[in-house]
Amino acid sequence: MRHAVISTILAGAISIGVTAYSAGSAVAQGVNEARFASDGQVMIPEDWRQWVFVGTPLTPNALNDGKAPFPEFHNVYIEPSAYAHWQKTGEFANGTQIAKELVLIRQKDPDEMNADGSTGEVSGVGYFQGEFTGLELTVKDTNRFADQPGGWAYFSFGHELPYAKTASAFPAETCNACHEASAADDWVFTQFYPVLRAAKP
Ligand code: HEC
Repeated sequence: MRHAVISTILAGAISIGVTAYSAGSAVAQGVNEARFASDGQVMIPEDWRQWVFVGTPLTPNALNDGKAPFPEFHNVYIEPSAYAHWQKTGEFANGTQIAKELVLIRQKDPDEMNADGSTGEVSGVGYFQGEFTGLELTVKDTNRFADQPGGWAYFSFGHELPYAKTASAFPAETCNACHEASAADDWVFTQFYPVLRAAKP
């Protein structure tokens, strides 16, 4: 009797273990997962500015008819355990999170700014970071986001501070399609991220 109880408990424990550690899951690959609310929305990461910084593409509004789709500086960060997996394997694990924070070009009085939005500072003429203006996130999970090509889902926490606490995934045609067509590595624009290129084994 006691054996039967023990083996039932063991079987239960094993089957729970198998679910949590199914092949290719974030847990199996040692990656910290994003947190999701009960309605399936992703929760804003708490500490994205402490993740590994990978690069800063810049699309100034002044060079995009005043309305760049992603305004100005894009500071991109990858969650550290996902970075470690990339460093080891050259692949983005299931569970990978990459954040992109948008930052406006530092403003000065109009008579101190050039027509292209640049300003002259002690280091030279160019573009300098001003205020934060948006946060986006992409999460790879081929199980949770089986309907998104490559398993990559895309989110925005808005353009106002404080950012929204949760966000729902955009439909694949809004975000995923452009990434699938033009990004160098598995939906990620590593062609613009020298830190990831240097770390790829
Ligand atoms: C027309 C093409 C295009 C579309 C559409 C697009 N992106 Fe991107 N995305 C880029 C490019 C190019 C980069 C590289 C960095 C940069 O320039 O910001 C990028 C980078 C990112 C990154 C950083 C990680 C990575 O994959 O390189 C996130 C997060 C992101 N985009 C979110 C979004 C979200 C959210 C949407 C939909 C609202 C979206 N993107 C739609 C072109 C696009």
